[in-house]
Amino acid sequence: MSDGIKFTLDGREVVARDGETIWEVAKREGKTIPHLCHKDQVGYRSDGNCRACMVEVEGERTLAASCVRAPAEGMVVNSDNARARTARKMVMELLVADQPAREEAHDTSSHFWNMAEVQGVTDSRFPPKLEEGRIPPLLDDSHVAMRVNLDACISCNLCVRACREVQVNDVIGMAGRGHDAIRCSTRPTTWGGPQPVWPVVNVCKPARLAR
Ligand code: FES
Repeated sequence: MSDGIKFTLDGREVVARDGETIWEVAKREGKTIPHLCHKDQVGYRSDGNCRACMVEVEGERTLAASCVRAPAEGMVVNSDNARARTARKMVMELLVADQPAREEAHDTSSHFWNMAEVQGVTDSRFPPKLEEGRIPPLLDDSHVAMRVNLDACISCNLCVRACREVQVNDVIGMAGRGHDAIRCSTRPTTWGGPQPVWPVVNVCKPARLAR
């Protein structure tokens, strides 16, 4: 067993244990770096998708996703300087642009809105996606065991990993690519309704792409 990895976090020397990410060391040091697609629970694999947790690593051109980035000996990390805070806030603003306003949100105390609040983000200076059908204005509660608000989805993939790797039931997948990525059911039935919202589910293809 190693003595750990010494690096500097926000001006203080800290030691990472084997396998710890920057985000985990920061948490142990009493800091909460904003995060969305990372779930701070045993069994949840971080994937570095949303970039809500970015930090600055001195000497590197781009910011790093702290939930997946392993510290290295001698690294100097800034999680709370203007560059890191501004970039994280920008990520939240971009995501907020496509959400219902907090007052109209399905869950006003959701993790998403809590993370927006701690960064002082209440609305967005960016326009929402306006293409018809891109943001499904739907609550699908057609299945007895699940309900899903597709308009609140940020495509962070956390629900997919939770179902596939934690629950091991594999009921949720992602359809489409890049700008068109969207969460869908992977089962040969929908969420349960006789009139499925996402009809071509066994190949995980959302309705708006199936035209
Ligand atoms: S929380 Fe780290 S990339 Fe999403």
